[in-house]
Amino acid sequence: QKGGYEHFMLKEIHEQPEVVKTTITPRISNHIPTFENEGISLDKLSSYNNIFIVACGTAMHAGMVGKYVIEKMARVSVTVDIASEFRYRDPLINEGDLVILISQSGETADTKAALELAKERGAETLAIVNVKGSSIARAADYVLYTHAGPEISVASTKAYMVQVSVMYLLAFQLAYAKGKISKEQLVEYTKLLENIPEQIEEAINLKPACQFAASKLLNADSLLYIGRGLDYALSMEGSLKLKEISYIHSESYAAGELKHGTISLIDDGMPVIAIATQKDLVEKTISNIKEVKARGAFVVLIAAPGVDVEDGVSDVTICLPEANQLLMPMVAAVPLQLIAYYTSVLKGNDVDKPRNLAKSVTVE
Ligand code: M6R
Repeated sequence: QKGGYEHFMLKEIHEQPEVVKTTITPRISNHIPTFENEGISLDKLSSYNNIFIVACGTAMHAGMVGKYVIEKMARVSVTVDIASEFRYRDPLINEGDLVILISQSGETADTKAALELAKERGAETLAIVNVKGSSIARAADYVLYTHAGPEISVASTKAYMVQVSVMYLLAFQLAYAKGKISKEQLVEYTKLLENIPEQIEEAINLKPACQFAASKLLNADSLLYIGRGLDYALSMEGSLKLKEISYIHSESYAAGELKHGTISLIDDGMPVIAIATQKDLVEKTISNIKEVKARGAFVVLIAAPGVDVEDGVSDVTICLPEANQLLMPMVAAVPLQLIAYYTSVLKGNDVDKPRNLAKSVTVE
């Protein structure tokens, strides 16, 4: 059942290149993405005034990556909400808006309630769901199924990856429909996404480095994940993954926000996992790393190739495979998953069934 792997989580991490292919390939023809078969035309996509992405946990983190990418490429405003907040905050949604619900199980109670609210207010709803025929898939106006196959590990890995891949397909189409990129650029971006499974595969080969990094985190009481831009969106997922299965307290923080309070937590040996993949922001992140290092942090740096750090700035550096920076979250997510996985294994925890958690949260 575990296909020779010690845990479902590791098996599912290894399945990621394949499930990304299975999810994107049927939606790409001659390097041009389309959701026409799912009833969503380009005109329809570009007709919405505002986009809301609503989800819980890891699915919400996939939405965060979606927000950065859609806003950057298509120049459309995207709000990401935690479903349990959205449903009670009397959100400003109207006819002409699109509410995207992301859910692996399609049964999460708060996400389902958010969908009902969006419909009541006249917005159109699009569900990005993994489980066929689930409640959220049945209730939404449009459905884009992810094809991760069954995800058994409570800690989500491959479901996140395919959710993010659909976010990219959406962003590319929206950018094209809004006239922000040419057809040639659309083809170029789509080709980059089509190459991502190989780069995910290469990132999986970073297992020994991730195991080594994990061995340095075992005795920490608390740690921080930091990044900027897309790296910040990704750090949220890295942090959740680690605390979920290792039971070590961790927070993700926008690197530039540290000096507004959180940096006071840093003392000797506190691990800080820094992600630096976005060219325009790397220099700023490195200066934040230096600030935590100067206060005694033990720094694990996950960096794009070519990110130049002076000696002594990081204690452990994990160098990612080459990939376009826009798509880097799909590559950089892998070492974050692996670090969480090995930390949990080394602590002797029940990796696939962490305490107090259920795979699907069907009650509020
Ligand atoms: O089934 P859903 O995607 O709606 O579930 C949402 C969250 O409960 C889920 O992603 C949770 O955060 C995972 N255990 C994280 O690994």
